[in-house]
Amino acid sequence: MLIIHVVGARPNFMKVAPVMRALASAPHIKQVLVHTGQHYDQNMSEVFFRELNLREPDINLEVGSASHAVQTAKIMMRFERILTDNKVDLVLVYGDINSTVASTLVCSKLQIKVGHVEAGLRSFDRTMPEEINRLVTDQISDLLFTPSDDGNQNLAREGIDESKIFLVGNVMIDTVVNLLPKAEARWTEVSRRLGLSTFGLVTLHRPSNVDNPVVLKKILASIDRIAARVPIIFPIHPRTRKKVKEIGIALNRRNFRLIEPLGYLDFLALQQKAALVITDSGGIQEETTYLGIPCLTVRENTERPITVSLGTNTLIGQDMDLLEREADRIINGGIKEGKIPQYWDGRAGQRIADIVTSL
Ligand code: UD1
Repeated sequence: MLIIHVVGARPNFMKVAPVMRALASAPHIKQVLVHTGQHYDQNMSEVFFRELNLREPDINLEVGSASHAVQTAKIMMRFERILTDNKVDLVLVYGDINSTVASTLVCSKLQIKVGHVEAGLRSFDRTMPEEINRLVTDQISDLLFTPSDDGNQNLAREGIDESKIFLVGNVMIDTVVNLLPKAEARWTEVSRRLGLSTFGLVTLHRPSNVDNPVVLKKILASIDRIAARVPIIFPIHPRTRKKVKEIGIALNRRNFRLIEPLGYLDFLALQQKAALVITDSGGIQEETTYLGIPCLTVRENTERPITVSLGTNTLIGQDMDLLEREADRIINGGIKEGKIPQYWDGRAGQRIADIVTSL
């Protein structure tokens, strides 16, 4: 049985690793790893392969950055060639990025079976490119692996046959469980290098927060005020760095430090020790819930509502007064207690492997 895994951007790499590891023990399965090249910087891609113990991609489509249409089209054209040149039994796609929807579309036209890992998540916000990617991918996938029960409910509401849906848990948390000891072991070195003791951790890259200069300035000014209470460290996504440069805002002062994007282990070490996390990432909402770290999410909605209802996440929207009030509350010890959702236990990859090998 030949299985192709398709990955393209940073959050995909920690999702594919546990699935490939779990499938490696099945003797009748050959796995091929395709990287679309959506993310290509050393610190957005290569470092993750090394730290997650992922093999080098067997094939790199090298599509790079472009508009959504061009990026999606390039992936489709190049991936179609791979599928027509090989006899492929199953393609596994991950998350909600352009690489996910592009490769799924190619499979469905060639009638090659496709499984979507992290299916069923919905923000119900169709202005987000990722929401369109999720909706389309789920409609045309053959197997839908969901991280939590809200995913099953969303898919059922959209009329997807129950027999295709499998609640397997959260593969991203598999990687946290697996690598947390290694990340913890790096804390002494990381904290010394970055000169940290108590600190807040920030990541921002959503177009809705960073593409509009007025909005971005407002958010950064608010975080700058929070930095007067607790030092802030901000590993900055290339998209955001470009925008910060364009608006010419002077940051990077002693209490609000912008640094290059970090590798997986250093970032996990920081998350675990942070007094609070401010983010617009999807995966970080989940990781902080697992780690029990307070998370303030600068979005109006989330496709991961369980992190709010059960976990440590709070949605802030773009209400910066609320952000500062919530940050203050956390700094003063008012921490939201959370629980870890069902099946976020380090075994999701194995559950997927069990289903795939029994096909
Ligand atoms: C993509 C995903 C998003 C995910 C995010 C994680 C889509 C629609 N979006 O958003 O869901 O949360 O990745 O990072 O698929 N760039 C570089 N170097 C890189 C990668 C990107 O400089 O290695 C720059 C490029 O100039 C590019 C910009 O960042 O124009 C945005 O990259 P892109 O992959 O289009 O989207 P992300 O914002 O990273």
